[in-house]
Amino acid sequence: MANETQTTDAEARPEASPTDAWRSAIASRKTQVATTEGVPAAQAQPVEDLSRRRFIQLSFWSGLGVALLGSVGLFLDFFYPRNVRGFGGPVTGGNVADYPVGGEPEHNREGQFYIVNLDPAATDANGSGGQAGLLALWHKCPHLGCTVPWRPGATVKGFTAVDWFQCPCHGSTYSIAGIRVFGPAPRSMDTMAIEIDDAGNITVQTGEVTSGGPDNPQRAVTHPLLPA
Ligand code: FES
Repeated sequence: MANETQTTDAEARPEASPTDAWRSAIASRKTQVATTEGVPAAQAQPVEDLSRRRFIQLSFWSGLGVALLGSVGLFLDFFYPRNVRGFGGPVTGGNVADYPVGGEPEHNREGQFYIVNLDPAATDANGSGGQAGLLALWHKCPHLGCTVPWRPGATVKGFTAVDWFQCPCHGSTYSIAGIRVFGPAPRSMDTMAIEIDDAGNITVQTGEVTSGGPDNPQRAVTHPLLPA
């Protein structure tokens, strides 16, 4: 009896077409995607996408930040001044014993200066202005920047055969103390800071320049070991 009933039901049900089967399958998949009910949170697709995107963003910005910091570090490391020597920094200028009073200026080409030991008795126009001590005169002419040589026996208008600093470019002329006496220069020769240690060793700070003026001789530095 039972077999007869089953056979009758199957025969009574219309057979599903292939198209209906596909629709049914697609509808079934949509239902699964649309609801996360019954799906463990760790396997939920939107959460996984979000965390992966976040990870990629964080990695990108972190990498960019590290690269920028590295570039800034390299830039600062390259341009940071270390132990600057030569012109622009400290330059050794020998010992005070090397400079007899009233002697000729000693030219230091590395530091671009002359060192003179002023003779207070030399009160002529090309002299010390009555001052004693060491001066470091920048050899750059205050007019247009030519290097000013020391010219013993130079001829200047109104003077003959005396010792001057005299610029070869436009004739600006300066006393042994760097005071302008003639020419187009707007001021006297500039001076650099001098340091002398207890043993009489001289260091000229070539980065510490003071504009020339009539007070140049007053900037002379004295020391107990300096020849007088
Ligand atoms: S540059 Fe020295 S006088 Fe002009």
